[in-house]
Amino acid sequence: MSKYQSVRGTRDLLGKTKKTFRSIEHIAYETAQNYGFQEIETPIFEFSEIFHRAMGETSDAVSKETYTFKDRGDDSITLRPEGTAGVVRAYVSEGLAQNNPNKLYYYGPMFRYERPQKGRYRQFYQIGVEVLGLENPLADVECIDLAYSILKKLQLQNRCQLEINTLGDTESRHNYRQALVDFLTPLKSQLSADSQVRLEKNPLRILDSKDENDRKLIANAPQMENYLSETSKKFFETVLHGLTELNIPYKVNPKLVRGLDYYCHTVFEFVTTELGAQGALLAGGRYDGLVETLGGAKTPGVGWASGVDRLTDLLESTMNLETRKPVSIITLGDKALTVGLKIARDLRAKNTYCEVFMTGNFKKKLEKANKLQTEKAILIFEQENGSMEFKIKDFSTGTETATTLEAIQKM
Ligand code: HAM
Repeated sequence: MSKYQSVRGTRDLLGKTKKTFRSIEHIAYETAQNYGFQEIETPIFEFSEIFHRAMGETSDAVSKETYTFKDRGDDSITLRPEGTAGVVRAYVSEGLAQNNPNKLYYYGPMFRYERPQKGRYRQFYQIGVEVLGLENPLADVECIDLAYSILKKLQLQNRCQLEINTLGDTESRHNYRQALVDFLTPLKSQLSADSQVRLEKNPLRILDSKDENDRKLIANAPQMENYLSETSKKFFETVLHGLTELNIPYKVNPKLVRGLDYYCHTVFEFVTTELGAQGALLAGGRYDGLVETLGGAKTPGVGWASGVDRLTDLLESTMNLETRKPVSIITLGDKALTVGLKIARDLRAKNTYCEVFMTGNFKKKLEKANKLQTEKAILIFEQENGSMEFKIKDFSTGTETATTLEAIQKM
């Protein structure tokens, strides 16, 4: 056994897994196109500051999970832990504001130094969308509708549930944060160590603590909905009404706060119970302040991302993957093999999937063709005088029919 293995939390994508990945990405891409999204690909690494500013120093993704290093020019570089910050950086540095609204779609690897387990990797893949320049709450609805359409096409809509909440505008969030701190400060010593730190730095995050005792303590905590400004309430009502009109089932979860700092108003997650603790299949929300944080003009934004690894883990055993059946070329003799390669090249140029077998005797080659579910094979026999004899074999009936090179070239 080789001593070299892939790094913990990373994996080689191949065979059925890779096929499932590609097929999910293809469905997501096509669906996003139908919704008018343009594809964007940003670099896999950015200056570390981009993520620190965008996602917040206290978010787990930045404080504990980034792959950060100094490059040879002494710049601090971070492998992207998510896609939103890079897309917003591109929006600002490429001057995309003049084309607003921007509806952008992306797919690619992300990196987080998390504890690997089922559905959680250190290199994982996201498909995601970001809408920049639309403040209408119905933009949130269109985004969620796109997510739901993709999940429907993947036949996952009944295997997960949309949970949604609002964090309100800055003022509402500020008032709520204060109420939460006032409620939790007398209970501080009873909170988990992590939540004690969060109480100082990011108290809202205590609401989605996984610790049993924390959960008991926050059961009676003040509720966000009582601190929402009128505009925030109206915004959320419009989103919920839109979802109802579009027949997208949802459940309001007042404890849903999301781990990243940039959110305001709508936050949502499609969650499943089928992947143990890693239940979030797709998650996102609104981030009206983020463009400004990264040096642009005040611009509203909303989007989501979905873990393709998690979708694949759910779908791998059931997904209907197209298997193409080849035209097989089976040859007898060295020269016949070269002729076979030439015929294959011409068929492949016409977009036909063609297999030429290089090893094994004639019988073995037939067996290999059969294994690949070949329906039709071209048989080429080299004669003693050096000329070629051609036959077509129909695998469903077993019949072989003599033919000519000219006839094959017209196939
Ligand atoms: P996120 O909730 O951090 O949000 O990640 C989105 C999705 O990526 C998760 O729901 C999950 O499916 C997948 N994911 C996250 N971490 C891992 C991991 N270690 N292994 C496998 N899958 C994982 C964001 O990234 C935001 N940028 C979403 C967004 C876009 N908000 C607005 N626009």
